[in-house]
Amino acid sequence: MKTSEIRQKFLSFFQERGHEIVPSSSLIPANDPTLLFTNAGMVQFKDVFTGKETRPYVRATSSQRCVRAGGKHNDLENVGYTARHHTFFEMLGNFSFGDYFKEEAIKYAWELLTQVYQLPAEKLWVTVYHEDDEAYNIWHEQVGVPAERIIRIGDKGGRYVSDNFWQMADTGPCGPSSEIFYDHGPEVWGGPPGSPEEDGDRYIEIWNLVFMQFDRDAQGNLHPLPKPCVDTGMGLERIAAVLQHVHSNYEIDLFQNLIQAAARETGATDLQDNSLKVIADHIRACAFLIVDGVIPSNEGRGYVLRRIVRRALRHGHKLGQNQPFFYRLVADLVQFMGQAYPDLVQQQSRIEQVLKQEEERFSETLEHGMKILEAALAELPAGQDLDGQTLFTLYDTYGFPVDLTADICRERAVGVDLAGFESAMQRQREMARASGKFKAAADLRYDGVETRFEGYEHLNLTATVTALYVDGTAVDSIQAGQEAIVVLDATPFYAEAGGQVGDKGTLATESAVFLVEDTQKIQPQVFGHHGVLQSGSLALGQTLQASVDATHRQNTIRNHSATHLMHKALREVLGGHVQQRGSLVDADKTRFDFAHDAAVTPEQIAQVEAIVNAEVLANQAVVAQLMSYDEAVSGGAVALFGEKYGDEVRVLDIGFSRELCGGTHVQRTGDIGLFKIISEGGVAAGVRRIEAITGENALTWVQQTEHTLHQAAAALRTQPEKLADRIALLQSQLRELERERDQLKDKLAASAGQDLAGQAMALPNGVKLLATVLAGADPKSLRTTVDQLKDKLKSAVVVLATTKDGKISLVAGVTPDLHTQIKAGDLVGMVASQVGGKGGGRPDMAMGGGTDEAALDSALQSVQAWVESKLN
Ligand code: ALA
Repeated sequence: MKTSEIRQKFLSFFQERGHEIVPSSSLIPANDPTLLFTNAGMVQFKDVFTGKETRPYVRATSSQRCVRAGGKHNDLENVGYTARHHTFFEMLGNFSFGDYFKEEAIKYAWELLTQVYQLPAEKLWVTVYHEDDEAYNIWHEQVGVPAERIIRIGDKGGRYVSDNFWQMADTGPCGPSSEIFYDHGPEVWGGPPGSPEEDGDRYIEIWNLVFMQFDRDAQGNLHPLPKPCVDTGMGLERIAAVLQHVHSNYEIDLFQNLIQAAARETGATDLQDNSLKVIADHIRACAFLIVDGVIPSNEGRGYVLRRIVRRALRHGHKLGQNQPFFYRLVADLVQFMGQAYPDLVQQQSRIEQVLKQEEERFSETLEHGMKILEAALAELPAGQDLDGQTLFTLYDTYGFPVDLTADICRERAVGVDLAGFESAMQRQREMARASGKFKAAADLRYDGVETRFEGYEHLNLTATVTALYVDGTAVDSIQAGQEAIVVLDATPFYAEAGGQVGDKGTLATESAVFLVEDTQKIQPQVFGHHGVLQSGSLALGQTLQASVDATHRQNTIRNHSATHLMHKALREVLGGHVQQRGSLVDADKTRFDFAHDAAVTPEQIAQVEAIVNAEVLANQAVVAQLMSYDEAVSGGAVALFGEKYGDEVRVLDIGFSRELCGGTHVQRTGDIGLFKIISEGGVAAGVRRIEAITGENALTWVQQTEHTLHQAAAALRTQPEKLADRIALLQSQLRELERERDQLKDKLAASAGQDLAGQAMALPNGVKLLATVLAGADPKSLRTTVDQLKDKLKSAVVVLATTKDGKISLVAGVTPDLHTQIKAGDLVGMVASQVGGKGGGRPDMAMGGGTDEAALDSALQSVQAWVESKLN
């Protein structure tokens, strides 16, 4: 029986028994912050179970797409290692909303399995929650399952902590369950549920019947539901394996097709390779998550998607594929699942685009990261875990999610030090916190309502406090002086995103003022207001007035809107290859990084400024529209990859630019005021950075620049426009003066020589000696002076010294008649050695130096005795 047939038979069976066929809901649970992804068929009915919502039917059936990765139900780590774990799967289910209960649920399940799907009854085993005598008796007495195939499963560790007590999440509907197992036969290793060998693959759970009875609150208390309900779930892939007489889910028709496609794209030849199973599993999860609006990113759902993509790419790499390949499997998936999921067909090219982008991004670091990891593993002593710091470096620098590294280690039977990783992570968070940023806020636990953002229309509004955090811990109230994060049910404060910084402002009650220094999201739709309580106290549930600092906001949005215009202008001036690589927009400036290979010339900058300012002068209204992503991109909007876009995106038309953007912007381009680029430079290979300013900032910058110019002109006694000529003239005058000065110095040295000759000491045989300091003399002129002294004194030994900037310069000269006894080189060396230096040269003229000024006088005094000893 083909997978599609199995799905159809299930739905029809329950439809014939009064159930409404309800289509699968999105993988992103609508308005349910407690849940990362839809992980079971009952998710879309959660409020119906609790009585908060009613539907025109009391019985329903569905085939629900589910993801179990990254949340309470997480199977990511097991994919590729077992026959039946998946990140993405389809769950067939039937539901009763206060209508039938245990008896019908059990009887329907038995009938479908044994009569429609025709499974032999003796191959089926069942479990019940240990206290559930009612279910036990229905199975045993009414259905006729022998006692040896009904197993009671107890709690492990706590009340209702049991394989037979099901809950969707930490809160919400829950209840005892009864599970049906299929025995794959003695050729497969494993034991019945509850036995020590239960983890083997012989007895596989195929259907879970949950008897919903309670609603669990955030404190863990169970409240009875208004009426008991039924929620069942049967994995389509598992029942398909049973009905297609194969043991592993990966052997069913659908997976065999995907495995072959994965082999084709990676060049793998062994179709049994586990890496192919991983890739086949992951392409389904990734494609469907993207269909439902998730984009790879570094937080929340986006990060789970990124982890799954990267895990698939790593397995591709293991099979020897280093080029992007994963995105090419989308076409195959469309072929095998498109009929059941028309959205998949419609969004095929978008899914491919998103995946390809993510593949290119990761391929840059995958190779490097693998080398680092291989090196670390090679050095690891046997039996030791991979250390936390290596895990962290791979995560932080090479983009290796921890589960990816752990997956590789698992293949080598090496454990990982998760605690060490956590502490390395914690250290970095503390550093981030210490540097005044609030990035760690993304880790706060929050289960309350989402924050309604009203900041596009309002700068002030009344809101209610839904959570308070001090040092990362939730508190009920805060007092004056405390630093805290405040969460509100609604806010006009923009939270940092898309390069635009968070708003500042105040949250005020009659008696308290909280100064908001920054706004950062703590969850995709939950805004954290970071700051200090200036006065009074603030408590959960309190109503307050939230007011954005309007000047800060105005300055910021001018820069943001100008960034869009500049982006477009850069593409016009430099070419279509210009792509945004990063941006930071705050109240002072916009800093824009983009792909471009050469420096932007002053002329190009002037052109960009002219284009942007022309758009400003045109003073067009800025228009924001919500539309589907596809509509937006086909309408020419620039979408930035790596940004997170939902199904519905905000398209912003500013002058001649159209971009997807959730930021806040000016109303008309004229609001930007003057636009001025103030710097341009390179930040990395092929990436340039431009800083630009707008509005009052630009005016202030121009005025300051002008002021500086005027000051310079006044100092040179000219007008600003004549400044360049004046400077050129002054420079040539300066050069002339320097020439004259050098000439004068030489003359001065010459005449100094005349005077010095008189100071020379007479030694026997008409030899003259002079060893002295010439204070203030230029070291270069000493040689000239020594030459003149030798001429004048005829037969002489001369040592002159001068000091400048702590350095001693020495020049020695000896007339030729004395060279047999005295060499200038030896002489200068003798003196230099006494002042901590060296010297040397020819017999007639030698130079040296030193640094010990205090020893200079005595060194010069020693010359006489030295010369006399040589002459004797
Ligand atoms: N909601 C139940 C499950 O996921 C049926 O197993």
